[in-house]
Amino acid sequence: MNILVIGSGGREHALCFKMSKSKKASKIYCAPGNGGTRDLAQNVDIASNDIDGLLRFAIDKDIDLTIVGPEEPLVLGIVDKFKENNLRIFGPDKKASKLEASKEFSKKFMEKYDIKTAKYKSFTDYDEAIKGVKNFSYPLVIKADGLCLGKGVIICENEEDTIATLKDILKEKIFGDQGQKVIIEEFIYGVEASLICLVSGNEIIAMESAKDYKKILEGDKGLNTGGIGAYSPSELFTDKLKEKIEKAVLEKISIGLKEEKLEYNGIIFIGFMIEEDDIEVLEFNVRFGDPETEVLLPRLESDLIDIFEKTIDNKIKESDLIWTDQACVTVVTSSRGYPKKCEKGFSITGLKDLSNSLMVFHNGSKYENGELVTNGGRVLSITSLGEDINSARENIYKEIHKIKFDGMYYRKDIAIY
Ligand code: AMP
Ligand code: GLY
Repeated sequence: MNILVIGSGGREHALCFKMSKSKKASKIYCAPGNGGTRDLAQNVDIASNDIDGLLRFAIDKDIDLTIVGPEEPLVLGIVDKFKENNLRIFGPDKKASKLEASKEFSKKFMEKYDIKTAKYKSFTDYDEAIKGVKNFSYPLVIKADGLCLGKGVIICENEEDTIATLKDILKEKIFGDQGQKVIIEEFIYGVEASLICLVSGNEIIAMESAKDYKKILEGDKGLNTGGIGAYSPSELFTDKLKEKIEKAVLEKISIGLKEEKLEYNGIIFIGFMIEEDDIEVLEFNVRFGDPETEVLLPRLESDLIDIFEKTIDNKIKESDLIWTDQACVTVVTSSRGYPKKCEKGFSITGLKDLSNSLMVFHNGSKYENGELVTNGGRVLSITSLGEDINSARENIYKEIHKIKFDGMYYRKDIAIY
């Protein structure tokens, strides 16, 4: 089969890595890919939001299956476009992508189908929002309705922060059109973890759990990032909790997808806040997480292409998913300055000195004049399986110092809990 993976991060590298192990893959392309994917796939110089360019390429190269990594092409309607042209593609259409692309849409969905989530109100007008704040206590959470590259959620501790944040979003338009509407939400206490699920029509099949680390600094301090480390499985997902999630969340999503005619064939990646056996849903994503995918896929023993095909054909069963008992950890190395602006183009060395048991998924790298250089805020996800989380983590921290690039940073407390 000819496979096309869309995207350029560690998630897409992990997808290429796992699919390259399938006997079904004759050729894998990655558009645009990065310095790591080019070892497993042929990189194609088409941006992941160039839907027409991707469509032309898929037709030209007789692509049998397309896997979409990031949300942007999904929200732009790549699945609708490919299907109109009889191309097989894994992901939600434009309509279902709103579960991720609009916070208000997903909150309304949760409310309507009785899925427990933080209480909220939405506003487009600044003065109304200021009045509305009175119904919440501090801390409270303000979210831009649209997609803001992981920057659209602001936790406000007091009135001063709240006024400034509402002004920034609704008056100064710091998020442009994505911030035309905000939702104000109660703050929920607990520990976060995610569950990555396959969606096959309206059937939801849980894959495995993962926890990512969002804050740039050790001890979960500092600015939010796209995710700077992760491990799988999350210890919070006991059998009892999984059973509860099945009934209180997955079955309800399934009913909701059917009733709202939002059925699709792809991923739903559910963010939870968990406190003992109390679970609330924070958000939905309609794609694989990054770096969650880097710790999920190494644990999968089944053929990933087979799973994608069965999901698309509505034939997937839970028993098709075979997981190793091993745990997996990833530590993301990032560039100086991340998550704010950072310089790129620094030479990366030391990868050849790592032992074979480590996997390195590239988040932001490219080749320039034959040399591997940094090409993003997040650069490399250093990943290891292990008998348990501790041994996987130790494998990484024992060797991560061998990798070098100017301004390299990583957290030293990933997977310590
Ligand atoms: P979201 O994009 O909605 O998942 O929000 C990004 C991050 O903000 C989450 O991973 C949480 O760490 C935090 N967050 C979002 N909503 C809440 C909430 N209602 N209470 C506490 N923290 C939240
Ligand atoms: N790591 C969080 C995300 O992919 O949305």
